[in-house]
Amino acid sequence: MQMTLTINGQNHAVEAPAAALLVEVLRDQLGLTGTHIGCDTSQCGACNVLVDGAAVKACNILAAQAQGAAITTIEGVGGGGGTAEALHPMQQAFRTEHGLQCGFCTPGMVMAGLEMVRKHGTTLTPELVTHELEGNLCRCTGYINIVKAIVAGAAAMGEMAHA
Ligand code: FES
Ligand code: FES
Repeated sequence: MQMTLTINGQNHAVEAPAAALLVEVLRDQLGLTGTHIGCDTSQCGACNVLVDGAAVKACNILAAQAQGAAITTIEGVGGGGGTAEALHPMQQAFRTEHGLQCGFCTPGMVMAGLEMVRKHGTTLTPELVTHELEGNLCRCTGYINIVKAIVAGAAAMGEMAHA
C-alpha cells in the first residue's frame, strides 16, 4: 500500500505491505538504520523512536499506523552530522558519562531518556531512571553509566531550557 510518513520533519511517500512494521520501513526502505532491531519479542527497546514525542517500539507498530504522526528517529535527534557539537544534550551525556560500549542499544536508550524527560521533567533520580529502563536491554554496560547518562542528560536539558 502507498503511505506517507513524516520522519524527522520530512514527508516520505513509501510503498510497503500493509503489515510492514515501522522499524522495517525505517531501516529497509528509508535507510534510517540508527533504529536497531535487537530482539523479536518487543523486549529490548533498541528500536525506540518518538511518535508525536512519545517513545514507541518501532517493531511493535505498523508503519501504516504511524501515518499522520510526527516520527523522530535517532538521526533526527540533535543537530545531525554526528559531530560532538551537533549532539543533543542527552546524546552528549551518554558520551560524557561513558553510557555505552558497543553502542547497539544506545539509540533506543537515548529515546528512552527523552521519554523520561517528557513524562517526569528534567530532574530525574537514578532510582526512577532504573525503574523506567525496564523496557530497554543492554548486553554490555551493566546499566550503571546508562542511568548516570540519562540523569545527566535530563539535567542538561533543564539547564538549556532555563538558559
Ligand atoms: Fe523492538 Fe527489540 S527490536 S523491542
Ligand atoms: Fe552494547 Fe548496550 S552498549 S548493548
